[in-house]
Amino acid sequence: MTTVLEVRGLVKHFPVRSRGVIKRRVGDVHAVCGVSFDLAEQETLGLVGESGCGKTTTARLLLNLIPATAGSVHYGGRDLLKLSRSQMRPLRRDLQIVFQDPFASLDPRMTVAELIAEPLRIHSLFETKKVRELMRQVGLNPEHANRFPHEFSGGQRQRIGIARALALRPKVLLLDEPVSALDVSIRAGVINLLADLQESLGLSYIFVSHDLSVIRHVADRVAVMYLGKIVELAPTDALFNRAAHPYTQALISAIPVPDPHKERERRRIILAGDVPSPVDPPSGCRFRTRCPKFATLTAQEKQRCVNDVPALQDRGQGHPSACHYAEAVRML
Ligand SMILES: Nc1ncnc2c1ncn2[C@@H]1O[C@H](COP(=O)(O)OP(=O)(O)OP(=O)(O)O)[C@@H](O)[C@H]1O
Ligand code: SF4
Ligand SMILES: [Mg+2]
Repeated sequence: MTTVLEVRGLVKHFPVRSRGVIKRRVGDVHAVCGVSFDLAEQETLGLVGESGCGKTTTARLLLNLIPATAGSVHYGGRDLLKLSRSQMRPLRRDLQIVFQDPFASLDPRMTVAELIAEPLRIHSLFETKKVRELMRQVGLNPEHANRFPHEFSGGQRQRIGIARALALRPKVLLLDEPVSALDVSIRAGVINLLADLQESLGLSYIFVSHDLSVIRHVADRVAVMYLGKIVELAPTDALFNRAAHPYTQALISAIPVPDPHKERERRRIILAGDVPSPVDPPSGCRFRTRCPKFATLTAQEKQRCVNDVPALQDRGQGHPSACHYAEAVRML
């Protein structure tokens, strides 16, 4: 399988500044802390984790939209993070992002045709027939090209966002919670559209979501993030059948099961407390303050969790996880 993106040791610290006139740097938000993964051609990699764990920051770093503190993102033999704005410009065509609410940052006075045409105009590639073709491709009626976004439903608006992202014929799409704001009834339509587009256009996806049921449906492989780090990385079936990290096990245990009998018997793992502040993450394993397994360990075993950062590696489960005491558990 051909690797499209090669991400290594990605780090992002946001400065925390003091209040007052002289804003001194008093700390850092450790938003992304050494994230590494590959993305293969036509693959969908799911990126999952609770709010604030660094999914969106990772996506923005991959596109070089914000400067990274450290790390590399290789695409087409070049490290994107080392490129200047003008060197990045032609590559921007290949890597596009779709947001949860694609219109939050767009001008509501622009028609759908103008919105879809905008990236084409920026790259001097505009042709009216391309806009009509893009609308058709995402299942919208080209006759509606002169309407405004507010005249469309949520699902249709997300299709407009996808058409805009597709306008420059990208190779990689970063989908940041693309269906999270949509009614369950119209989610499937957008998910199916993305699957069809991936197949027909040979796209690779990074699909960000906090919803494991969606990820299970769409992803080939899944990276689970906690407090800025990937704690488990596995093919989707392996993750759901043999989760190795206690955090993944807790997330999977919270997914409702449609079968009422199984639902009654479902063992839920409730995580204690809140996610700690990314300004001062716990030493050793970042998950230890909420880890159900930690409580079952001997004092000596616990020392390892407190002192040593667990590397993301295969400890005999067939895929990598970042727990010193990783143990595959069948959850569903
Ligand atoms: N521009 C910024 N300045 C300071 N801190 C930031 C900035 N952007 C993000 N953060 C912080 O970085 C951490 C990661 O945020 P991020 O938005 O990447 O999380 P997320 O996983 O996408 O969450 P959500 O599921 O809520 O979208 C959070 O603690 C967030 O508050
Ligand atoms: S390393 Fe320790 S604290 Fe971290 S997940 Fe494993 S058992 Fe829990
Ligand atoms: Mg986000």
